[in-house]
Amino acid sequence: MKIAVLNGSPKGQISVTMQYVRFLQTKFPQAQFQIYDVAQKINKLERNKEEFQNLIREIKSSQAVLWAFPLYFFLASSQYKRFIELISERKAQSAFRKKPAAVLTTSINFFDHTAHNYMNAICDDLGMKYFGSYSAEMNDMLKSSERKRLEAFGELFIAAVQNAQPAIKNYQPVVATRIAFKSGRPKPINTSEKKVLIIADEMDKKSNLGKMVDYLRASFSPTADLVQLKDIDIKGGCLGCMQCGIDNVCVYEGKDGFVDFFINQVMAADILFFAGPIRDRYLSSSWKRFFDRSFFKGHTPALKDKQIGFIISGPLNQISNLREMMTAYVEIQRANLIGFISDDMGTSEEIKIALQTAAFRAVDYAQKNYIKSPTFYKVGGVKIFRDAVYSRLRPVFQADHRYYKQHGLYDFPQKNYKWRMINSTLILLLKIPLVRKEFLKRMKVEMTRHFDRYIKKPK
Ligand SMILES: Cc1cc2nc3c(=O)[nH]c(=O)nc-3n(C[C@H](O)[C@H](O)[C@H](O)COP(=O)(O)O)c2cc1C
Repeated sequence: MKIAVLNGSPKGQISVTMQYVRFLQTKFPQAQFQIYDVAQKINKLERNKEEFQNLIREIKSSQAVLWAFPLYFFLASSQYKRFIELISERKAQSAFRKKPAAVLTTSINFFDHTAHNYMNAICDDLGMKYFGSYSAEMNDMLKSSERKRLEAFGELFIAAVQNAQPAIKNYQPVVATRIAFKSGRPKPINTSEKKVLIIADEMDKKSNLGKMVDYLRASFSPTADLVQLKDIDIKGGCLGCMQCGIDNVCVYEGKDGFVDFFINQVMAADILFFAGPIRDRYLSSSWKRFFDRSFFKGHTPALKDKQIGFIISGPLNQISNLREMMTAYVEIQRANLIGFISDDMGTSEEIKIALQTAAFRAVDYAQKNYIKSPTFYKVGGVKIFRDAVYSRLRPVFQADHRYYKQHGLYDFPQKNYKWRMINSTLILLLKIPLVRKEFLKRMKVEMTRHFDRYIKKPK
């Protein structure tokens, strides 16, 4: 049996993810896991159609596919995303149809689920038989329980392929939106010196996206700045080299225009709108490259305190996973989400109202420095980064460590000496039946008592 492993690490074979594939190779030598470095060789695959067709032939002749990739910003790397786009652009879907597929990722378990959801949906769109996914924390292999689990996953997947097990389809195809957005003349809102920047990937002026972006630009006075990603000199995707971790200096610095664009335009704006059409189940790979390349800022909130909105053309409302990724992205940046305006949200009138409302809120909230309350996305994410940067990732991400120290992000509960004292005393006292009885009786009242000084008591 041959299993085509589509390697999504830009680092190629010397990558964490491929060690997990090697583990499977070691455990199941009969399965022939054949590795293809699609992310690392994306430029070649894009330029050389023969090379791409050779790979497609290899996939076609295999019995199953393993999508193996590292998590990059809620998804796979932009190089891998580009490969997925090429499959439909070059009409190579038939090589994947009916083929059993599994997903294997390595990450620090930050939004691995959205990447898995995405790949599951892509497999369903390609008509593959999606078996399931495996999320390995980078260092899981060092634990015997996790090695056992991975081995079980490999065994189950191989058995599913051998027994031609049917799959459970989780995603229905998305239906393209048909509305032609009719623009108009908006009432512009004075930006009160707040800097507004709209970033779009390649955009046709006459498309819905082009018209929505024009309408939004004109909703601000002075008109909002617009930058198209195609006009920024970006030589390539993030290489995953982690060299930026020490001092936030990207290996591309001085070689292309991304860092300069990000620091001097994106970070300098108060209000940002990200605009683009949906490509498969995400935005384009150019947008993905934008996010990946911003990794030179490490795990710090580079867009802190900004107002951020999204202008999207395509079936956004059928892809809740995309909305989740972008919402979480904004939260983790400690920025404020203005909202999503998409051309599948209603009539032209409704879209125009939404665009004007977004413009108004962006300026209003920027003036009031309003950042909405964080949810699990930020609260959970910050703890994952805090623990990782404090411990095993610190030598690599020294710039993050300095930032976390300076900004008080190392807020570990075990440092809270007052509560540690109270807790241990209270736990001891609660062993006494009378105290315990009184404690349980008063618990409800005591839990609200410390709010008293901020609120008026009802009579
Ligand atoms: C640009 C970039 C973005 C990343 N984004 C995420 C992420 O969103 N979630 C996560 O858990 N890990 C993320 N990571 C960590 C990698 O997924 C992790 O280190 C992975 O094991 C690297 O695998 P590789 O050596 O096979 O490339 C990111 C790493 C890089 C370089």
